[in-house]
Amino acid sequence: MRSTRRQFLRHTLAGATMLGAGLPPSPLLPALAARSAPPPSRKLKLLILGGTRFLGPHTVEAALARGHQMTLFNRGKTNPQLFPKLEKLRGDRYGDISALRGRTWDAVIDTFTYVPRVVERSARLLADAVGQYVVISSISVYPNYKLIGMDETAPVATLPPEQVAKVKTHRDVTGDNYGALKALCEQAAERAMPGRVTNIRPGLIVGPRDPSDRFTYWPVRVSRGGEVLAPGTPRDFVQFIDVRDLAAWIVTCVENRIVGIYNADAPAGSITMGRMLAACKDAAAGNATCTWVPADFLARHKVRPWADMPVWSPAVGDDIGFGRVSTRKAVKCGLKFRPLVDTARDTLRWFRSLPAKRRGHLRAGITPEREKQVLAAWHTHTPASAPARG
Ligand SMILES: NC(=O)c1ccc[n+]([C@@H]2O[C@H](COP(=O)([O-])OP(=O)(O)OC[C@H]3O[C@@H](n4cnc5c(N)ncnc54)[C@H](OP(=O)(O)O)[C@@H]3O)[C@@H](O)[C@H]2O)c1
Repeated sequence: MRSTRRQFLRHTLAGATMLGAGLPPSPLLPALAARSAPPPSRKLKLLILGGTRFLGPHTVEAALARGHQMTLFNRGKTNPQLFPKLEKLRGDRYGDISALRGRTWDAVIDTFTYVPRVVERSARLLADAVGQYVVISSISVYPNYKLIGMDETAPVATLPPEQVAKVKTHRDVTGDNYGALKALCEQAAERAMPGRVTNIRPGLIVGPRDPSDRFTYWPVRVSRGGEVLAPGTPRDFVQFIDVRDLAAWIVTCVENRIVGIYNADAPAGSITMGRMLAACKDAAAGNATCTWVPADFLARHKVRPWADMPVWSPAVGDDIGFGRVSTRKAVKCGLKFRPLVDTARDTLRWFRSLPAKRRGHLRAGITPEREKQVLAAWHTHTPASAPARG
C-alpha cells in the first residue's frame, strides 16, 4: 500500500479513536432532503447503533426531519447530552447488547463498524427484529485508486483470518487493516441478513461536527487570509461528501428499502482543488490568495498529501483514479449534493462556534510556520516572472 494512502487511512482512524471527544452540540442544520424529497409514504421506526459523534447526529436529525421515530443504542459516553427526548438504549458493542432484544424496528443503521465479529453479532441478534441493516462502510475498502471511475465491482482489500482474529476492538484497527476490516464488516452483515443489507461506502465525510478537521482546515485557513499554500494544480481532482447529504441519503435508503453496495461520494471528477478553494473564498470572504505549488516541490520539502495538505493527493501511479471514484449507482438511487459553498460556509460557521481552545489547534493541515517556510522556499525557487497565484 502506498504511503499516501496509509496516511489517509491513519487520519481517518485518528477521527475514529476520538470517540467521546466531548464536542459541544453544533447548530444542526435542516436536512436538505427534508426540503426537496416528497414526504415518506409512512413513518418508520429506526434504530441507530451509535448516533452521537459525527455522522450519527446528522443521520438522526435527517430521520427526525422526515418524521421518523429514532432509537439510539450506545454506551452513553460520547456527547450524552444530545437528543434528550429520544429513546436511548445502553450497552456495549464489545460486551452487553441485550438491550436490543425483544424489540422490532423497520431498519437499523450501524455506524460503529470496525470489527467484523462485532457487526456480525449485532446483525444476527437483530436479524428477526429489523427489516434492513445499513452498514456504514468506507471507500477505503478499495486497496488503491488504480482505476479511473472505479465502481462497486472493483476488488476489495483482504486480510488473512489469523490477522482478523487479532483485532479485538477498534483500537486494534490501523491504516493497514482498516479497509479490509470494513469489507469484512460488510460481508459479515450480509451473511447474517442476506439480501437485506445496505453497504454504504462513503469517501471523506466533511462538514459541521467533523472531528478530524481535514476539510475544515481549508475554509478556516482561507478565512485567516493572506497567502495560502495550495497543493498541486487547481485542476487536481478531490472527492468528499457533505455529512448532511450522506445522512439524508442514508434515510432515503431506509425509506425505499435500497439494499446492495454503494459508493457514496461526490460525483467522480466533479470537484477540483481550484473549485474547492474558490468555494472556501466565497464562504470566508477576506483577502486570501492561493499560491499553487507543484506536487514534486512539496514532496521535496516533505509536505505530506492528506496530513499537511488535507483532502488532496496527487493522482499518479496506483492513485491515478484519486478523486474519480464512481458514485453513479448511489446517484441513481437518490444521492444528492448541496453546493460546495454551502459546505464551506457551514463548516466555517460551525468551527467558529467551538470553544477557543478547540479552535486554537487544527487537527489537520500544515502549521502556519511551516506554510510560511514552504512558500518562502517556493518563491526563492521560482522566477518572479512566473507567478502561480489564484
Ligand atoms: N470520517 C470519514 O471521513 C469517514 C469516511 C468513510 C467512512 N467513515 C465511516 O463513517 C462512520 C462514522 O461514524 P461516526 O463515529 O461519525 O458515527 P456516530 O454514530 O456519530 O458515532 C459513533 C457512535 O458509536 C458509539 N460507540 C462507540 N463505542 C461503542 C461501544 N463500544 N459500544 C456501543 N456504542 C459505541 C458512540 O457512543 P458512545 O461512545 O457513547 O458509546 C457513538 O454514538 C464510521 O463507520 C467510519 O468508519 C468515515
